[in-house]
Amino acid sequence: MNINLDIEKILVSEEAIVQRCKVLAKQISEDYEDKKPILICPLKGAVSFFAHLCEQMTIPMVYDFIKASSYAGTQSTGIVNISYMPTTPLKDRHVIIVEDIIDTGRTLSAVVEELKKEGPASIELACLLDKPSMRKVPLEAKYTGFVIPNEFVVGFGLDYNEEYRNLPYVGVLKPEVYTK
Ligand code: PRP
Repeated sequence: MNINLDIEKILVSEEAIVQRCKVLAKQISEDYEDKKPILICPLKGAVSFFAHLCEQMTIPMVYDFIKASSYAGTQSTGIVNISYMPTTPLKDRHVIIVEDIIDTGRTLSAVVEELKKEGPASIELACLLDKPSMRKVPLEAKYTGFVIPNEFVVGFGLDYNEEYRNLPYVGVLKPEVYTK
């Protein structure tokens, strides 16, 4: 069984992601020079993008994690559950939340509201994938990797029922995989 066989098409290749991470990391490094930002990774989907982006950053920074989840299978439940908060004090610090995908925007807006309570100096968003056509909550990332159409995507951190996160690219799952 090879998980690549469940993919109908590759939407964003590994090479394109790696290249885009370099560009975004350079931009963030320039924008946050002397600000020592805290980059926050919402678990679990953002892990691959977060690691690639952080590795390319050239300025002093720290990172931390938050656990937020709202999906069951392919459906957004609309209820965002935050079960782990960053341990780094965020007061008066510049925070960048690094997310894998913004779809309805519900997860990230709940995360932003929760982190705002800690009194950071600023909060900005970086996302690898943006599906603006699906937005239910107004939300815009300062740094975006790729704008994509409304297709259910997996890979590079994104899952279907917790699987496929380890694919090195972003792909569209064959419909028979999630209709069976
Ligand atoms: C996914 C993804 C984003 C969110 C985006 O998380 O990682 O956090 O959904 O969707 P939204 O904009 O409609 O809220 P999920 O809840 O599946 O948890 P995971 O990160 O553990 O996969």
